[in-house]
Amino acid sequence: MKDLIDILDLSTDEIDELIESANDIIKNPDNYREKCRYKKLATLFFEPSTRTRLSFEAAMYELGGNVIGFSEANSSSAAKGESVADTVRTVECYADIIAMRHPKEGAPTVASMKTKVPVINAGDGGHNHPTQTLTDLLTIKREIGRLDNLTIGLCGDLKFGRTVHSLIQAMVRYPNVKFIMISPKELRLPEYLINEVLLRNNVEFVETESLEDSISQLDILYMTRVQKERFFNEADYVRLKDTYVLTPEKLASAKQTMRVLHPLPRVNEISVEVDEDARACYFRQALNGKFIRMALILKLLGIK
Ligand code: NCD
Repeated sequence: MKDLIDILDLSTDEIDELIESANDIIKNPDNYREKCRYKKLATLFFEPSTRTRLSFEAAMYELGGNVIGFSEANSSSAAKGESVADTVRTVECYADIIAMRHPKEGAPTVASMKTKVPVINAGDGGHNHPTQTLTDLLTIKREIGRLDNLTIGLCGDLKFGRTVHSLIQAMVRYPNVKFIMISPKELRLPEYLINEVLLRNNVEFVETESLEDSISQLDILYMTRVQKERFFNEADYVRLKDTYVLTPEKLASAKQTMRVLHPLPRVNEISVEVDEDARACYFRQALNGKFIRMALILKLLGIK
C-alpha cells in the first residue's frame, strides 16, 4: 500500500497494527523521537483545518521530521489555476510524504496517481476522511476496549459528514456492530452507503430523528456538526443547524459506559457543560489523532 485514500485501503489487521503501534508510541515516546529524522511531510490543505493539519504536523515533529506546506488554497499556486496533478508533481521534489485536504471529492486520488510519494487523504469534500476514522477507532479501542459488539449512534449531518461515511465503512467489518442513524430527514445518510455498505453487509441499522429516544441504547454517541460549507443555501443551514444539542439532561439517560465522540469542530451540537462529564471524550480523541498519525506516517514511509 502506497497511499491512504480510503479507509478500506487498510485491512482490519493493518488497522490493528496501527492501533498497536499508536499505543506503543503513547507508552514509549522516546523510542520514536528520531525515526523520521531528515524526512519531510508536506501538508497541502485547500480547505480549513485545525486538528487534522496540526496533528499531522505535530506527529511529524514528534518523529523528528520536518514539515512544509500551506493551509489555504489562496496561498498556493492553486489560486493561479494550477492543477492538483502539477502541484503534487512539484511537491514530491521537496517532500517524502503528502497529506492533502481538498474540497473536491477524489482530489487526493488524482494526486496519488500523479506522484510517487505516499499521499494521505486528509478529507475530500463530503466524501471520506480516513485518518479521522483511524483516530476514532483508536479512541473507541482505548475508551471501550473493543471494536466489535457495539451499538453506535451517529447523530447530526449524516449526508455531508465525511467522518461518518468513513467510520461506517470501517465499522461494518467488525462483528455485531449496529447503527442508529439520528438525523433530520434532509441530512440522512447517502443512498450509496445504505445500499452498498449497510444492506450489502447485512448490518443492522435504524434511521430516526430522535436523539432522546435512542440515547439509552448506545455504547457510542458520535456527534457531528452540520456541514455549513456543503449547503447550497443559507436558509436550509440556519433551519437545520441546531436540530440536535447534547445537554447534561439528555445525557442523563445514557449508559455510564457510553462514550461521546465528536471529530470536532463543535458548533452548538454539544453544550459545553457536557465537557465535564467523564463520558465526553472528544478532546482525548483529538489527542489520539496525533498518535495514530505518527503510526501511519511510519507505516507509509516503511520505517519500523
Ligand atoms: C471534520 C472534517 O474536517 O471533516 N473535522 C476534522 O477533521 N476533525 C469534521 C467537521 O469539519 O465537521
